[in-house]
Amino acid sequence: MAAPLDKKFTLNDLRAVRQSGAKVPMLTCYDYSTARLMHQMGVPALLVGDSAGSVVLGYETTLPVKLDFLIELTGAVRRGAPLAFLVGDMPFGSYQGSVGRGVKNVCRMVQLSQCDCVKLEVAESHVRLVKELADAGVAVMAHMGLRPQAVGVLGGYRFQGRTADQALYLLDLALEMQEAGAAALLLEALPPEVSAAIVERTQVPVIGCGAGSACHGSVVVTNDLLGLTAHRPKFVPQLGDVAKPMSDVIGKYVEQISSGQYPAAEHQYVMPETEKAEFKKRLK
Ligand code: KIV
Repeated sequence: MAAPLDKKFTLNDLRAVRQSGAKVPMLTCYDYSTARLMHQMGVPALLVGDSAGSVVLGYETTLPVKLDFLIELTGAVRRGAPLAFLVGDMPFGSYQGSVGRGVKNVCRMVQLSQCDCVKLEVAESHVRLVKELADAGVAVMAHMGLRPQAVGVLGGYRFQGRTADQALYLLDLALEMQEAGAAALLLEALPPEVSAAIVERTQVPVIGCGAGSACHGSVVVTNDLLGLTAHRPKFVPQLGDVAKPMSDVIGKYVEQISSGQYPAAEHQYVMPETEKAEFKKRLK
C-alpha cells in the first residue's frame, strides 16, 4: 500500500535509480488538492506540465499557455506536495529568442514556484541555454522526441524516431544535452529501441512518456490516467476511471437541488433561540 514520502525526493534520489534499477513513478499535477493526494500516495516526482493548456484550459495545443499561469500552478503543487521532486514546465515562447531571456524566465519559475527542476522541450539550438542554466545551478530536464510545442514542424502529434536517421539524431541530441549539463532527460513517444539506446549511452536519469520500459521512470498526464480526458493515449495504462463516480456525484447533486431534498435541516446553521426570537420581533 502506498504511503506518503517521509523525506524529500531529490535529484540525487533520481540519479540513484540508474544504479538501483528501481523505477520512478511520475505524474503530472496542476492543483493543490490533487497534489495533496499525490503526496499522500507517495508519488516521488511530479510535473506541472504545459499539458495544463489542454486539460485545465481546454486549448487544442499547449502553445497558448503563459509562463505566469504555469508559475502559479507549480507553486500550488509545491504547497500540496512539499516532498516530491517537482518539475516546472517552461511554456512555448518563454525560453526562445535569446539565452538571456530564457535564463531570466527560468529563474522566475524557480524563484516563484520553488520547483526543483525545469523542463524544456529541446532542439540543438538550446544547448547554450541548457549550459548556462546548468552553470547557474538549475536542474534541467531536457524533453526530446515528440515535442508538443513544436507540433507545427513535427506535422502533428506523431511518435518520433521512426527512421534510423531520426533515431541517431535523437541519440546525438541526448548526448549533447548531457554534455551541456542537463540533469535528466524526458523522452516522449519514442520506439523502445531508441529509448534503450539513449538510456544505455547516457549517464543521467531518463524518464519516459510513451517511450518503453528501458527508461528509469515513466510520466503520464494524470487526467488521461484517471479517465478524465476524451481520449486516452495508447501508452497510458487503464487502471480505473474516475469520470463515472465524479459524474454520479454531480448528477445526484443536481437531482437533490431540483427536487428540494437539499439543503436539508442538517446542512443549515443554527441561530440561538433567543436571537432568533429577537430577530423575528424586530423584523419589519
Ligand atoms: O506537459 C506535459 O504534461 C508533458 C508530459 C506529457 C511529458 O510534457
